[in-house]
Amino acid sequence: MPKAIKKVAVLTSGGDSPGMNAAIRSVVRTCAYHNIECVGVYRGYEGLIEGDFKSMDARSVKGIINKGGTILKSARSKEFRTVEGRQKAFKQLTDANVDGLVVVGGDGSFTGALIFNQEFDFPVMGIPGTIDNDIYGTSHTLGFDTALNTVVDAIDKIRDTASSHNRLFFVEVMGRDVGHIALNTGIAGGAEEILIPEEDLGLDRLVDSLNKSRKSGKTSSIVIVAEGDKIGKNIFELKDYVDENMEGYDVRVSVLGHMQRGGAPSCFDRVLASRMGVKAVESLLGGETNYMVGLLDNKVELTPLEKAIKGKSKINLELLRVSDIMST
Ligand code: F6P
Repeated sequence: MPKAIKKVAVLTSGGDSPGMNAAIRSVVRTCAYHNIECVGVYRGYEGLIEGDFKSMDARSVKGIINKGGTILKSARSKEFRTVEGRQKAFKQLTDANVDGLVVVGGDGSFTGALIFNQEFDFPVMGIPGTIDNDIYGTSHTLGFDTALNTVVDAIDKIRDTASSHNRLFFVEVMGRDVGHIALNTGIAGGAEEILIPEEDLGLDRLVDSLNKSRKSGKTSSIVIVAEGDKIGKNIFELKDYVDENMEGYDVRVSVLGHMQRGGAPSCFDRVLASRMGVKAVESLLGGETNYMVGLLDNKVELTPLEKAIKGKSKINLELLRVSDIMST
């Protein structure tokens, strides 16, 4: 019989994403609903090691569902990667009588949670929070939808100036290992080309395609480039290459950067965070451990953390085809 859970800790870790506050709120309120205690841990695993905890009741999370970032702050902890660091964290948790941990973060954070569980048999549950949507076991990570809307808004604005000056814009979006943000926003923003890590379009095909677009009557163009794209050139080198190899295009670069991680979460992310928080706490209370809560076929389901870490989040091939057809 697993030990009954009476006190849950929640932390946010890795790159922040819109919806993390809504997830904290949901974890805290689900604990309150079930009459168990909840503590917030500041600065992810760093705060876990230092015992930087704060008791949280239902009212302590008022007015945060609409806020970007994370009130608990986030960090990428080097010390938690060591056994000594994790031992300190375990001591802090046991000293504070905490008996379950909810980690909101990406696959690096889940790897830490899984190792922690394996070493100390401490119940852990993951909630996927990253704008990249690069986690196996969920169709959507927290913050992905909001980031898409932020990026599309930026592309729309860039299009205004691109078309006024008949310019070609390379727009870099986040996505270290996967092209979900690039592919979705490229389609929604009407991009001519979308460069993603999963597909190497090749420089020649890019130039051919841009030439074709111009011949077909397009006067301005937008190319969306995922930051992890494998074309072999960074976005500024891409601009130089096109400058050198194409006549008559006035090329500009816009790197959207960390603005993609900020802002008020969308309705979708707020609802998703609320659902995931409830499922995470209730699963811990039900004796489950080492799972990630995810959205699969619009149902909130559990995937073993190990699978979530090792599995690959795949690009939607249908979207790739749609994007090709739309840029005709
Ligand atoms: O993983 C989320 C993410 O936003 C990536 O898209 C990006 O490559 C990375 O974080 C940036 O990390 P940092 O905030 O540490 O620069």
